[in-house]
Amino acid sequence: MSMKLLKKFFAFFTLISLLGVFIPANGKIFAAWAEPVRAKNAMVASQHELASKIGADIMKRGGNAVDAAIAVGLALAVVYPEAGNIGGGGFMLIRFKDGRTTSIDYREMAPKAANRDIFIGKDGKVISGEGGSTVGYRASGVPGTPAGFDYAFKKYGSGKLKWSELVAPARKLAQDGYVLSYRLAELFKAYKNNLEKYADSKKIFLNGGKYYAEGDLFKQPELAQTLSRIEQQGATEFYTGKTAQLIAADMKANNGLITLEDLKNYKPKERVPLKGNYRGHEVITMPPPSSGGLVMLQVLEMLEPYDIKKMTYNSAEKYHVLAEALRRSFADRAEFMADPDFAEVPVNKLLDADYLSARGKTIDLKKASSSRDIGHGKIIGNEPMDTTHYTVVDAEGNVVSNTYTINDLYGSAVTAKGTGVLLNDEMDDFAARPGTPNLFGLIQGERNKVEGGKRPLSSMTPTIVMQKDGKPWFAVGARGGPRIITAVLQTVINMIDHDMNIQQAMDAPRIHHQWFPDEIRAEPYGMSPDTQRILESMGHKFGNVGYNASATGIEIDEKGVRLGAIDSRSDGLAFGY
Ligand code: GLY
Repeated sequence: MSMKLLKKFFAFFTLISLLGVFIPANGKIFAAWAEPVRAKNAMVASQHELASKIGADIMKRGGNAVDAAIAVGLALAVVYPEAGNIGGGGFMLIRFKDGRTTSIDYREMAPKAANRDIFIGKDGKVISGEGGSTVGYRASGVPGTPAGFDYAFKKYGSGKLKWSELVAPARKLAQDGYVLSYRLAELFKAYKNNLEKYADSKKIFLNGGKYYAEGDLFKQPELAQTLSRIEQQGATEFYTGKTAQLIAADMKANNGLITLEDLKNYKPKERVPLKGNYRGHEVITMPPPSSGGLVMLQVLEMLEPYDIKKMTYNSAEKYHVLAEALRRSFADRAEFMADPDFAEVPVNKLLDADYLSARGKTIDLKKASSSRDIGHGKIIGNEPMDTTHYTVVDAEGNVVSNTYTINDLYGSAVTAKGTGVLLNDEMDDFAARPGTPNLFGLIQGERNKVEGGKRPLSSMTPTIVMQKDGKPWFAVGARGGPRIITAVLQTVINMIDHDMNIQQAMDAPRIHHQWFPDEIRAEPYGMSPDTQRILESMGHKFGNVGYNASATGIEIDEKGVRLGAIDSRSDGLAFGY
């Protein structure tokens, strides 16, 4: 390069850096926007750096993405106790390097003694507090995480590492402790009203009432013992061994429902993933008992006729059609979606192109509809913040998109005595009384009523999206109750319609609409007052401003480089090699 050309080159870069912009790897110029983390071989994106590093290490030692996902999930149970868990459940979506796909449903199951009216008091009202579906012993479903991980390991693990090698890093973290971040120390305190009601939760998470501060070493000896038993005896120990006995005894002593028999009978289920298509890209996602995949695919199909790219990223025009499509799909969610083993969920009909085209045509481009007038469609024939998602891509190209949860932050707030295991409050994802809003304001129908042995309807939406040529492109999921669905949906739209990379697609402002309450939830600094005024003039109502879920994901670029990203709404680390 000549001297003159070199000077011009430097002058150009000085200019753009003075203007506060840079050129990211994909060649597009954006105002200061974090770049995804890059790795040539393998990547983990999770909400805690220690968990992501453990997952990367498992893959370096010969494990595949499934092995790594198990080790990450167990580590998050220790370092991310508000959502990471062995006392909850979730969904693991896998796309193997040879193109096969599957999903493991390890969602919690209602204890056998549960029934439709269990959360309705003598006064006919839904019980709140202890005895209800959101806090205390009766709020928990039978945990599925240990059984789900065990199933994944035995069927889809690499076979190169032992089960104990996947559990040991988590057990060590619980035993030796880790330094508390400001966020975690403060979050314990923020949830003290619930946690202090239960002796073991108070002892562990509130330091017996003295509380923790940023920088303290946080050890969990009871959890370390539980993990040690699972490490040595396998995941069945949780369901039939000492851990099971401790959980069942604590339940019995406190009017809880989970028995030894419930624990023994827990079974994960392998399910065929849902597959849809948006503008030539295959979208692979979770089937029922998740509602997330169905709602997302319905909305994408309703948006397909619109030129979303031309509408531009955050125009009132785009938000209008998005909110209207969401309104219609969440109405279907309330009526039709539930555990398919207990209720008929008309999946094919809900995804039928003609059905969705007719439903989409009821959108008036000038005027908002009212949720009171939008019921579910006619089928012919028959987040406070919660949850956590992580994504793993290994060197071979296997992809795991895993979302798991204990529902609300710190679940039911009950730590089963002597186990260190924080239990979920997943019973609230059933319709405690059909037609009455739950923790997330979601209205749900008869199909999702409480029944013993049933799995509650979920919004978790682990998703994998393919390039038009059939190669894996990105995997994403989120935390945040029903806002998970809208976060994943808008990440998909941002990647496909707005040409963003995975970091930008997750960071960009989002909206949420879930039919009822009949309102758009915008984010702080996420929508200009002018745009809001236009939408209000069309008849849209706005609820409280708040962040709409937070996502984690991995994109694979055209050279095969893994690009890991954590939503800027939350903490975590993408780590690879
Ligand atoms: N517990 C949140 C969900 O599964 O949707």
